[in-house]
This record gives sequence, structure tokens and C-alpha cells, in this order.
Amino acid sequence: MPTPTEQPKAVYVLSELVDSYPHRAPQAERGTLLRVTVAGEPILHRPLKPVTEADYGSERLATLIDDMFATLYVAEGVGLAANQVDADLRLFVYDCPDDAGVRHVGHLCNPVLDDLPAAERVLDEEDEGCLSVPGPYKRVARPHRAVVRGTDMHGTPLVIEGTGFFARCLQHETDHVNGYLYIDRLSKRDRKDALRQMEQMREEIFARRAAKAEALGG
Ligand code: NI
Repeated sequence: MPTPTEQPKAVYVLSELVDSYPHRAPQAERGTLLRVTVAGEPILHRPLKPVTEADYGSERLATLIDDMFATLYVAEGVGLAANQVDADLRLFVYDCPDDAGVRHVGHLCNPVLDDLPAAERVLDEEDEGCLSVPGPYKRVARPHRAVVRGTDMHGTPLVIEGTGFFARCLQHETDHVNGYLYIDRLSKRDRKDALRQMEQMREEIFARRAAKAEALGG
């Protein structure tokens, strides 16, 4: 999901509140920029493979997370799922503010959203976009609060909770690992419109990402 900017009041790294944190997650400094996949590529439209015991603690998984953070910042996103860098693993990274101005940074393997009780299922309707649908934003209704369970890269269980914009991010990224884009939640007409806008805007957005990558690369 794209859209950053806002001065954080506090920072949660995974589920820990920390006193201070760099502007960009340290993983990004080690990571290599990867190509972001675009709507229509099959890997974005099928469920991904679980992160397994063999992956936990591996160099390969750590490197993928580094690369995903590097790619997230260059694309100016708040969340990125593994299939958006052409990797078939149930994993996403995020660096996202919530509506209270709290910043949330981390990664999550094998994310599963809690089914919230009906009484808690208040919907927010806000604009949403996706780095893999470069250009358009469309209104999407989603629950105001999200609780997502999974593990960190070492297999340690994690529960990440969010409200507002961060809840939207958690739901959007979990959709990705299940093979869905936000445009799949739109009416047929809005979906078509989003894809048409993407075709018109994608080159301009790719050029902006390339310029940003060059600037960061020195
Ligand atoms: Ni997305």
C-alpha cells in the first residue's frame, strides 16, 4: 500500500514500543532493490506458500526481508507483500502510521486475520492504493480495527493489532498473501477504471521510483 508522511508520536517495532527508531528500518540499508510486480502477473493472483521451519532463521528469509524494506521505501509504500517482489512466501513488511500518529514497523510471516465480533466490525471507507496497481486510488470499505497473527522471521509467534490506516494496511497485505488485490474488492466498473488509470499512469510512476532509487543509491 502506498502513502506515507506524518510525524510519529511513538514507534512500535513488531509488537514492542521503542524509544527511538531510524527514519528507515535498518534492514533497508542492507537490502537490494527488487522489481515490484504489477497486476496481471500470476504470482499476485494466487495464494502464496507458507513460511516453513526450514525458512525460519535462514539467511534467505533475512535477505528477502532486507530487500523488501529497501524496495518498500523506494516505492514510497507503507506495506509490501512477498509476491510484490516475485517471491512465493506468505510474508509482508510494513512501516505504517495509524490514525493516532503512532508508527508501526515490522514484518510478519504466515499472517492470519482474526474474525472480529460483529460489534467490533465498524467499517471505514477510505481511499486505498497499491504499489502493484501503480497510479489509482479507490474507496474501499474495511473494518476499522484489525488483529493479525503470525510469526517473526525466527518463528516466534506475533500478534499485531492496528486501527484506522494501519488496520487497512494489515488487511491489504494479508489479502496479498492470499492472492487478492484491493481492486478485487471493487465493483466491476471501479476495477476496470482502476486498471485503465494504471495503464495511463504506470510509466510516470516507474520513472519516479527509478529517480528515487538513483538518488538513494548515490
Ligand atoms: Ni498492495
